[in-house]
Amino acid sequence: MADLVRFGVSLEKELLTKFDKHIKEKNYATRSKAIGDLIRENLIKKEWVEGKEVVGAITLVYNHHRRELVNRLTDVEHNFHQLIISSQHVHLDEANCLEIVVVKGKPKEIDKLAQSLKSTKGVKHGSLTMATTGKGIA
Ligand code: NI
Repeated sequence: MADLVRFGVSLEKELLTKFDKHIKEKNYATRSKAIGDLIRENLIKKEWVEGKEVVGAITLVYNHHRRELVNRLTDVEHNFHQLIISSQHVHLDEANCLEIVVVKGKPKEIDKLAQSLKSTKGVKHGSLTMATTGKGIA
């Protein structure tokens, strides 16, 4: 485990009360864990803004009966094959499919891929989860 350092933080009482209520709802056992996660979240955002190598997951929901849509998604994924580490396909019911595409690369390229998939006509849901390779994050 990494070295732990204790430090004091001064906050307005009202802000701390709100924060404590918020982290209780999120099931955090301690403020330390909650603050650590906030810091990491910010560092990850910074990696994306600065164009570092990042990882992410693109989640799509669509109806596979629309064959032209399935073909279009496959074409887009092949065009960005260098970014795609793996993908998982789940048959949600007779019609709906959930696809999770795990990506690694430059944020701009990943955004372009996510946007191309999301904006494909017939996609019911598309979202990009921004994550980190973990290398620059303690
Ligand atoms: Ni399916």
